[in-house]
Amino acid sequence: MPEPEVPIWQRDFPITAAGEDDITRREFTRYLVLASGAFAASGALMSLWASLRKVETGTLTAIVELEDLPVGGSHLFSYPSPRDPAILVRVEPQLVLGFSQKCTHLGCVVFWSGEDQHFECPCHEGFFNLEGRPIAGPPERPLARIEVDIRDGMVWALGVEQGPHA
Ligand code: FES
Repeated sequence: MPEPEVPIWQRDFPITAAGEDDITRREFTRYLVLASGAFAASGALMSLWASLRKVETGTLTAIVELEDLPVGGSHLFSYPSPRDPAILVRVEPQLVLGFSQKCTHLGCVVFWSGEDQHFECPCHEGFFNLEGRPIAGPPERPLARIEVDIRDGMVWALGVEQGPHA
């Protein structure tokens, strides 16, 4: 039986190292490609799952009697689920605004300062104006807005607004 021919590169560089046969460059590249493919596929599946899952936006819910919410005052409630702290602010006699209380920086609970007319996040001194837009501190995104309406003397939550509000 003839001896297998030694490749030219092995003849020119006859130095061997321990473990050089454990994994070839080609196998290593194959593993790398497989791992990259698996990461790409899992990323695609995660984004597909995120786009298909139902986002809780809330249902029509009575929050508080308007007469129990003084002008300039606030009212805490949960919306759209019991785990979602939210806040109402009565800006004018017939104008009530609703927001999620979750700070858009790291999720601490913001509170309303009627004296200063803004929302404050005590965690890292983040501040939001009356429209929920960040005005100071680390938050860069506005508070999630909750659509509210006044019907027959009652303040109702209609749903969480999707996307950034103007
Ligand atoms: Fe609100 Fe950091 S969590 S400012």
